[in-house]
Amino acid sequence: MKKVCVIGWPVAHSRSPLIHNHWIAEHKIPDARYEPMAVKPENAAATIRDLAALGFIGANVTVPHKETAFAALDRHDATARRLKAVNTIVTTPQGLEGRNTDGYGFIANLKDRAPAWNAASGAAVILGAGGAARAVAAALEEAGAPEIRIVNRTPSRAEALMRDLELKSAKVFSTAEAARALDGAGLLVNTTTLGMKGENDVTIDLAPLPKSALVTDIVYTPLETGLLRRAREGGHPTVDGLGMLLHQAVPGFEAWFGVRPQVTEKLRALVLADLGMT
Ligand code: ATR
Repeated sequence: MKKVCVIGWPVAHSRSPLIHNHWIAEHKIPDARYEPMAVKPENAAATIRDLAALGFIGANVTVPHKETAFAALDRHDATARRLKAVNTIVTTPQGLEGRNTDGYGFIANLKDRAPAWNAASGAAVILGAGGAARAVAAALEEAGAPEIRIVNRTPSRAEALMRDLELKSAKVFSTAEAARALDGAGLLVNTTTLGMKGENDVTIDLAPLPKSALVTDIVYTPLETGLLRRAREGGHPTVDGLGMLLHQAVPGFEAWFGVRPQVTEKLRALVLADLGMT
């Protein structure tokens, strides 16, 4: 049996089982199963270290265990090392290896849905300075963004992110300074929880952002957040956040099962239906 799980607390909201079991069926992977595993914070490190003994060939790790997973493992790929967070665990001949595919998923989604966008063509503005912002900032720098501008309610957190990731060309702005951050930028991404169902929307004025700038959100419930709606109405190209979730799953599936799966409209529709958004 090739068993993989997603470890989280809570984990019931995770769409990873739906995504991976869809690909398992599509590619007729024999004896494969992907299951949710709810693990309390106090048990997360031990569970992660014991994955092989528990019969798993790999795992995904979601909130709030990504940093714990990094600390629990001895081996990491370069991205996980840089972010100090793990969302994918793979069994290698040397033992368990922690990887991080969140940034890959972010960039792959933009390449898929906005092929005309080019990271190198302008500064990238990131709203937020949490775990998601770290993955996005590192990925954008790697993709060639000439400058990263981090806008956060708490600028000291953005400063810490910049230092910790050793971003080469980054600037920090408070929310009140957002207009300066948007000036001349090529990309705006929201990595905060603002805009999520039941939360307040992002309110920064988009007028200083060039019309050609791509606007995206990592929030995908709703699919079109208030920020994306304003951006679309203002004439910006926009990309929703669901694809990041779908694309971040690709490298894990390939590593565990030896087949590179595709992010298709069918998969997107399946996840949207499960979210009750069709
Ligand atoms: P994650 O790891 O999912 O990215 P996080 O670490 O809790 O989540 O980070 C949440 C981000 O959303 C932070 O940038 C936070 O701003 P602060 O650093 O100032 O706390 C931002 N955020 C959350 N609620 C917010 C709100 N009501 N207004 C502005 N920013 C908010």
